[in-house]
Amino acid sequence: MSTTPEDLLTQAVLARLDEATDPRFDQVMRSLIKHLHGFIRDVDLKPEEWMTAIEFLTKTGQKCDDKRQEFILLSDTLGVSMLVVMLDQMRKQARSTGKHAMTEATDATVQGPFYWPGAPDLPLGSDIRQGAKGDATFYSGRVTDTHGKPLAGALLDIWSGDGDGFYDLQIKDAGMQARARIRTDAEGRYWFWSLKPTFYPIPMDGPVGSMLNNMGRHPNRPGHIHMMVGAPGHVGLTTHLFVSSSPYLDSDPVFGVRQSLIVDFEQQPPGKAPDGRVMDSPYWSAHYDFRLEPQSAS
Ligand code: BEZ
Ligand code: FE
Repeated sequence: MSTTPEDLLTQAVLARLDEATDPRFDQVMRSLIKHLHGFIRDVDLKPEEWMTAIEFLTKTGQKCDDKRQEFILLSDTLGVSMLVVMLDQMRKQARSTGKHAMTEATDATVQGPFYWPGAPDLPLGSDIRQGAKGDATFYSGRVTDTHGKPLAGALLDIWSGDGDGFYDLQIKDAGMQARARIRTDAEGRYWFWSLKPTFYPIPMDGPVGSMLNNMGRHPNRPGHIHMMVGAPGHVGLTTHLFVSSSPYLDSDPVFGVRQSLIVDFEQQPPGKAPDGRVMDSPYWSAHYDFRLEPQSAS
């Protein structure tokens, strides 16, 4: 097979990496250059199309500030964030179990842009809504390791939007709402009150919104509550619980839904709730057990 001038160009660019001293940098850049050149050949990219792409990336950068990260949104909506999350979980589990397959730790999913570090440490059973709108929901379950051993004092760092689909960060002067850090009891159990989250649109007023419109895609994430779960000596987990009755479970714009994270929110009649609280109107309950992988000895 004859070598074309275009092939020689790709080879010349790759050859400029010969002096790179960091082997991982070398590996990543070599692959990036090969795939990028391959992509341009594959679609036979025209100069004006490349300029459109450069303008899109420029606008993506210009949309970013300390509250808005349009590049992460781009990564999320192209499934890149989720792919990185899945590979990371698989790699950590393979290292800790010696197996190159998913074991039964709870599935991870994307963190998203609305995590706000420093949520209050609240006692078990607290109502974490702190004024957020939404139907009262009793959340409960256990945190165990992957062998079923309860993890006492495991930390759940919890956040969600409200019953109207807004995060506190999106509401002027709301302060922290529907966020808390809660620790499991001696038997690994947790319970707290919050609200039943609804679906909401990811930000559409930037270049990523235009991209989704051009793709004919909708912006709505299905209703979910976020949790980071951690315990000493165990691989930490960033995940969500999704409301099983929510629309958009099969078309999450950031590809974060995993079947194992879909939970039935059950409507309960007024009366005594499982923690003894007396409810004068119907409420929801959601139950979920989290499993964390023990860290490898190394
Ligand atoms: C979220 O769930 O908070 C989220 C995730 C990715 C993009 C936008 C929002
Ligand atoms: Fe969210």
